[in-house]
This record gives sequence, C-alpha cells and structure tokens, in this order.
Amino acid sequence: MKLRLLPIVALMLPLIAFAAEVGDVVKFDAPPQKVGRDIMQAFTNRKSSTGFSGRPVPMKDLGNVLWAANGINRPESGMRTAPSALNKQDIDLYVFDQKSVYKYNPKDHSMNLVVKGDHRSLFTERMKTPIIILLVSDVSKFAGGMGTEDDHRRMGAFDAGIVSQNISLYCSALGIATRVRASMDGPGIQKLLGLSEKQIPMLNHAIGYNK
Ligand SMILES: Cc1cc2nc3c(=O)[nH]c(=O)nc-3n(C[C@H](O)[C@H](O)[C@H](O)COP(=O)(O)O)c2cc1C
Repeated sequence: MKLRLLPIVALMLPLIAFAAEVGDVVKFDAPPQKVGRDIMQAFTNRKSSTGFSGRPVPMKDLGNVLWAANGINRPESGMRTAPSALNKQDIDLYVFDQKSVYKYNPKDHSMNLVVKGDHRSLFTERMKTPIIILLVSDVSKFAGGMGTEDDHRRMGAFDAGIVSQNISLYCSALGIATRVRASMDGPGIQKLLGLSEKQIPMLNHAIGYNK
C-alpha cells in the first residue's frame, strides 16, 4: 500500500516545495484568457467555505486570483480589473501563508516579501487555511479631493468590497474555496506590516480547498 502511494507523493513534492520555499520575489505567469467555468456557473457555485483541507494552492492559481482581484487588465493605462472610487486604486493585497507575508505588485504581476514567519493567527484562524489574502485600503489617496474622512473610509470599504467579489467569483470559477471575513486583528496587522493609520485592513479572504 505504502509503495503504491510513493509515485503520487513523489509527483506532488515539487509542487509542495515550491509553495513552501518561494523567494523574496515571486513572478507570476500572465493570467490565462479562459478558465474552467463560465460566469454563470461561477455565480451558481459561489459560496463561503465552511472548512478547508490542508491542500496547498498552486502558485499559478494564486497569481491568477490576485490578478482577477485587482490586477492590471489594461496595460496601456494601468487600469485594474476592479473599479475604484475616483480611480484612486487604493486597495493593496497582502498574501499570508505558513512561511511569510507578501505584497502583490500589479505593475509587475508579482509579489514581494514583506515579512517572514507565519502570521495567520492575526486572522480568525479557526479554519486553518493555507492562504489568506488581506485587502488594505490606503484611504490617504482620497485626501485633498471631495468629502470628509468618513467619506474616504466609506470609499475604501466600497472598493474593498468590489475586489472581494472579484476574488469570490474567480475562485468559484476555478473550483477554489474561499470565505471573506471582516474579523481580524486590524491594529496587530498594521503594526506587523508597518502600515499608517490611513492604510486600513478592510477584509480578508481565506483561500484553499474545501475539506
Ligand atoms: C463584509 C463581510 C464580512 C464578513 N465577515 C465574516 C467574518 O468575519 N467571519 C466569517 O466567518 N464570515 C464572514 N463573512 C461571510 C458571511 O458570513 C457569509 O458570506 C454569509 O454567511 C453568507 O454565506 P455565503 O457567502 O455562503 O452566501 C463576511 C461576509 C461579508 C460580506
């Protein structure tokens, strides 16, 4: 029995090692033009996961989720897959895994190491998800324009909601499980990542595969 499993385990090893041992910069491949399910199937299947297995998410799929979330879909203008109030592009994405925290760089479709270590306990981690994508709004980008600080915070929350829905639908299309959550240790996250009080953790997405 053990011997029969060996080839399967051997085949999976490079995938597991790559997910666990990425460098300071992870450059993703360009996103594909087509994925398995169409938009209607993605809507039909969208739901919040209630429990994740430990199965790692392949880097390729993570890159595609980040691009769908808030990547650049019009390279000539730098515009994004998600609209944003006044096109301020205020939402930054951070990826927390078992080894490190990375920040997504849409211009390069890559992610850069921010801090080492497993910091997933800053989120509601009853679920033990392999990956958490954090959505931070830099509401300072709305300053000097119209509205009050409350208005800026509202715009940041709206923009985070739109990015979140991009993630949910793309995950649904790909058969990846996710759950959006508002609960997290906001001040603890700001401290860890060196964020200002205007860079507000709005939502986070647990990402993985259903049990
Ligand atoms: C803004 C927002 C905040 C949420 N916060 C949490 C949360 O902190 N913890 C959690 O387990 N689920 C959270 N959820 C997920 C909801 O509980 C879930 O979407 C709802 O129960 C409906 O289930 P469905 O997504 O499968 O349709 C949140 C959802 C939204 C839209």
